[in-house]
Amino acid sequence: MSNVLIDITETSKLPSAWVHLGSQKLLDEIIDAIPSKDAFLPQILISLEQVHGLMSSTSKHNLPTGLHLGRVGRLAALLAKKAKLDWKERLECLYGGWIHDVGKVYIPEKILNKPGRLTAEEYELIKGHVLFGCKVLEDYPSLEAFVDPVKYHHERWDGNGYPHKLRGLDIPVTGRVVCLVDAYDAMTSFRPYPPYQRTHEESIEEIKRCAGTHFDPFLAQIFCSLSHHEIEDLI
Ligand SMILES: [Fe+2]
Ligand SMILES: [Fe+2]
Repeated sequence: MSNVLIDITETSKLPSAWVHLGSQKLLDEIIDAIPSKDAFLPQILISLEQVHGLMSSTSKHNLPTGLHLGRVGRLAALLAKKAKLDWKERLECLYGGWIHDVGKVYIPEKILNKPGRLTAEEYELIKGHVLFGCKVLEDYPSLEAFVDPVKYHHERWDGNGYPHKLRGLDIPVTGRVVCLVDAYDAMTSFRPYPPYQRTHEESIEEIKRCAGTHFDPFLAQIFCSLSHHEIEDLI
């Protein structure tokens, strides 16, 4: 870690389980791609501290959600790199992915942990986490550049997502990236009700099936071409 410009392990007070080598590598690669580093590094560092603070609060409220944030940020940054997005978009995917579900701090833990299908009323409440997340970020002006993944990660390519019902390329690309990897992580994580926990292969099949309806077909194609090993290294 000695040759990194921002050492994640130094800047965060996160439990060791969150300090993933993949996070450091992804952030290093993004910083390497910045043409004039000195102009941006202080802000990147301040934002990282704040992002970690929000991850920490989310984790204290509900640990599985906190761990999900870590994985989604890393997977989003990987997909953004493979899709050849610019460094600002890649950083937005990493940081935005790390806070995309921060609004869940306002959802009672008994609903987040419910061992069964949600009622229609509970589902509506959970959907509120998107706007709750945007509200949380209003208190963090320096995180304004990372709001799109929070705001748009439940929009769908066909316009049937929520809460804004944007469609296709009207959805900011960082929202489309986080939407896809968020779904992958949800599918491959344990759920105590059908369809339970899908394998990597089953999840990739599902993403292929939903390319062009739920997911951006271009991003879906790139994600599905990644090796299982490359994804596994980050989760
Ligand atoms: Fe979400
Ligand atoms: Fe999520």
